[in-house]
Amino acid sequence: MSRRKFLKNLGALGAGTVLTPLAAKLHSPSLLSPKKNHPIVISTWIHGMAANAGAWEILGTSGDALDAVQKGVAVTESDLTNRSVGLGGRPDRDGYVTLDACIMDHDSRCGSVAFLEDIQHPIDVARAIMDKTQHVMLVGEGAQKWALENGFPKVDYEVPFEEVQKEYEEWLIKSEYETDVNVENHDTIGMLAMDANGRIAGACTTSGMAYKIRGRVGDSPIIGAGLFIDGDVGGATATGVGEAIIRTAGASAVVESMRRGASPEEACYDIVQRLLKKHRGVEGMQVGFLAMNMQGEYGGYSVYNGFNYALRTQDRNEMVDSKYTRTWD
Ligand code: GLY
Repeated sequence: MSRRKFLKNLGALGAGTVLTPLAAKLHSPSLLSPKKNHPIVISTWIHGMAANAGAWEILGTSGDALDAVQKGVAVTESDLTNRSVGLGGRPDRDGYVTLDACIMDHDSRCGSVAFLEDIQHPIDVARAIMDKTQHVMLVGEGAQKWALENGFPKVDYEVPFEEVQKEYEEWLIKSEYETDVNVENHDTIGMLAMDANGRIAGACTTSGMAYKIRGRVGDSPIIGAGLFIDGDVGGATATGVGEAIIRTAGASAVVESMRRGASPEEACYDIVQRLLKKHRGVEGMQVGFLAMNMQGEYGGYSVYNGFNYALRTQDRNEMVDSKYTRTWD
């Protein structure tokens, strides 16, 4: 059918008309005049407020969601007082700070970098891998070599910082991992944004679990675990104990739940229940998820209380507490 004839037929639909399912969908007032919930950006934890402000410089001027999430999480990477993201982060067991990050857009284009050392902005490296290579992920020495060859400078300061080094030396005495990620001890910035044109993108960056075994990589740079975007459905990102998120392909599972009709919050709830089922008897393992669908609706859910996220829209700029299943004793 020609477009003109199709539109004429659509215009002819009136009271008493029996609609076929497709025509009924096209005739739905909510679809003919969609509610505009974007631009919008959400990101994990309190550091998300400053990150959202960075992203908003692009979103608020009709810029692209992909550029916005890259700029947004780079704000957190630049904050050298942050102990879970960027080069101010806590080191691995051998005393080295290693960084993980990834980025993804509505067309499933993505880039990722893991086990990267001495480069200030792993998110920019991840974006450059996406834009300039046919690969998705580079790690370790090879990733650093590629970054240096592609114009990313090695930082000229010593990491870990003195204060972080001191803490690490104290930790070495007991050598116990901390998995009770909470508002005081948060990890990872994961960000989801939808721009004025309705395009969605996400980014995730971290220095990983404090005092991890050297070489350990968590969920944050793994597409489908720490971050997943599907331009037909929406996106999700994760924070918390990366091993649990990888085991359940967390962010991908959230997006697949939304594909089957779950709201963003329901989808986050579902993956938290699955994750708990797979870790029966495990205490103190905090994981939180954020999700956004293509209507710009959003939600979060976590294993334990204490997970919150930053929200920025045209009208709102605030922290939101996520719902949860368990409480810390
Ligand atoms: N969620 C960050 C990590 O486990 O490395």
